[in-house]
Amino acid sequence: MTPPTAKAFRNPRAQHGFQGRSCSIISVGAYVPERVLTNTELSRMVDTSDEWIVTRTGIRERHVAASDQATSDLAAEAARQALERAAIPAEQVDLIITATVTPDMPFPSTSCLVQEKIGARRAAAFDIEAACSGFIYALEIGQQFIMSRSYDTVLVIGAEKLTGIVDWTDRNTCVLFGDGAGAAVLHNRPGSHGLLTVCMGADGSKGNVLCVPAGGSRVPASTDSVGGRQHFIRMDGKETFKYAVQAMHAAAKEALARCELDISQISLVIPHQANLRIIDAVGERLGARPEQVFKNLDRLGNTSAASVAIALDEAVSAGRVKRGDLILLVVFGAGFTWGAAVIEW
Ligand code: UT7
Repeated sequence: MTPPTAKAFRNPRAQHGFQGRSCSIISVGAYVPERVLTNTELSRMVDTSDEWIVTRTGIRERHVAASDQATSDLAAEAARQALERAAIPAEQVDLIITATVTPDMPFPSTSCLVQEKIGARRAAAFDIEAACSGFIYALEIGQQFIMSRSYDTVLVIGAEKLTGIVDWTDRNTCVLFGDGAGAAVLHNRPGSHGLLTVCMGADGSKGNVLCVPAGGSRVPASTDSVGGRQHFIRMDGKETFKYAVQAMHAAAKEALARCELDISQISLVIPHQANLRIIDAVGERLGARPEQVFKNLDRLGNTSAASVAIALDEAVSAGRVKRGDLILLVVFGAGFTWGAAVIEW
């Protein structure tokens, strides 16, 4: 990988009276369940083919959680790995934030269940829901707690068991999603730069384009809602696709501009892994070289809030991100929601 051409950049946080505080991602971790579901297996379940899925999405296989594995189980595995790598005992965690659209249950939160599983007895815990954009939203929330001096150590998790809310009779959606979890340990580390900026956005007028219609207060679970398959993901793929390219590009551009950065200074772009054609279109519009853009959706599919969290872990493990590198995360999801973050690793 070509190193960034220049190291000069602006840290927008430095001007907001946060002297003496700095939020760094000190470690990451990830977990994907063992079972792999290939396109060929899917083509025996619905009217599809490996060729269609690969050409239209770039996905070849995805991981599927076991029936006794819930989102908190995946999340706890990723969290344990991240904490171990940070050499931070679970008791030292001040706050757990889990981004998910597939909580174990409506309440208690998945974060509370993770707290118990990993033994983070001192930690406060809550979930956030921003669909596939959730991990970036959660990073920003975690960072705010650190910069405001409320907490020193925040565990941020993106975790999903999407295969539990996928309609396995709908070829438009069932080929897209997979399960997994990623985690990051945020820590106050004075003198470092860490999360330079996070841009977030939403357009609630597009709420019905990508949703699970039932199971909340609008359409509580009933025999009708179950019979009508309303507890599964529904998506207008084309509209989502068009909006995603435009919003991800705009968010990434804004994040770079805030830091006075050119794309050539970014070591790695880590986009939400929903569709290879979306990733390529966003990369091209940003002027990124193909090798600057991280992709793992061929193996994992779309894991929603876990997507960029797992990708970040894989990029770090593979040596594609080194300390001091500048990286750009960019996401898009239901809501619609979107976001971009520039991180000095
Ligand atoms: O993570 C949140 C964000 N989510 C996304 O960003 C997803 C965005 N959308 C997409 O990735 C794409 O729109 C899809 C991959 C979902 C669909 O690709 P597309 O190129 O937009 O295809 P389409 O929906 O326009 O469907 C084209 C054709 C249709 O057939 P007709 O009407 O042309 O005869 C579909 O019925 O492909 C058909 N089709 C399939 N054929 C084989 C749809 N799904 C499949 C399938 N296998 N799995």
